[in-house]
Amino acid sequence: MARVIAVCNQKGGVGKTTTSVNLGAYLAALGKKVLLIDFDPQANATSALLSNYEGKNVYHGILGNAYHEELIRPTQILNYQIIPSSNDLSGALIELVGLPEREYFLRKFINNIRHNYDYVLIDLPPSLSLLTVNGMVAADEILIPVQAEYYGMEGLGQLLRTVNLIKENLKHPIRITGALITLYDKRERLPRQVAKNLRRNFPYPVFDVEIPRSIHLAEAPSFSQPILIYNPSSPGALAYKRLAEEIIQLELESLPPTNFGNFNV
Ligand SMILES: Nc1ncnc2c1ncn2[C@@H]1O[C@H](COP(=O)(O)OP(=O)(O)OP(=O)(O)O)[C@@H](O)[C@H]1O
Ligand SMILES: [Mg+2]
Repeated sequence: MARVIAVCNQKGGVGKTTTSVNLGAYLAALGKKVLLIDFDPQANATSALLSNYEGKNVYHGILGNAYHEELIRPTQILNYQIIPSSNDLSGALIELVGLPEREYFLRKFINNIRHNYDYVLIDLPPSLSLLTVNGMVAADEILIPVQAEYYGMEGLGQLLRTVNLIKENLKHPIRITGALITLYDKRERLPRQVAKNLRRNFPYPVFDVEIPRSIHLAEAPSFSQPILIYNPSSPGALAYKRLAEEIIQLELESLPPTNFGNFNV
């Protein structure tokens, strides 16, 4: 049965999509069967892996207007598939709001296919909207990319409180697998301080690997290629490979229990 991991941070531009796309690629390269669900109306993960995709997408899936098989697309990497998104998904926010069990649409959708995979990754939008709640409710684990910059840790307390509310009110067990330091430039003092601060104060694990700021990671999506294909020897590629190894390693260890205390920075 798959581990379902939502990649989540309501702050924009912190590396959620870059992480989802490239973590998925390396998990597949390391022998896992992986499905990436693009659950952001911006559809950045879709364009990062598929060029010019048009057609039914996750929006149709969660509303029961498409079969899974119609939506699942292969990528250039063996055993790595994607369910695309599109701007249609922004309409779902309005359509779902009046429906019963509106938090569970993505979960129900995933439950029918998760047995086919080792990992299901969900790329979430920069908000704490109903889409994000659907993503969290669908997931077993949350991975939080944190940008190593001055405002990077702002909002993390609110994010953890949201996870806590979901856990308590929707009776949904969910774990914070870890925070991931992204867009890291170790030559600069400020990012080093932010990373140190996060490692010291974040009440959950922080992945050992830090994702460096790397032009190759920024360029790869414009070729609709994961970094594993675009430039596998670049520092960003090596970092995402290490992240995949850390995540796989957690399969072997029992994850620490999630303790939702207050977190203020
Ligand atoms: N490690 C990195 N090095 C260089 N550029 C990066 C890196 N990670 C992400 N980027 C670039 O930064 C921008 C934001 O990254 P990304 O789209 O992954 O963030 P996001 O959190 O998904 O954004 P959003 O909140 O809009 O969904 C993109 O242009 C991406 O190519
Ligand atoms: Mg994104």
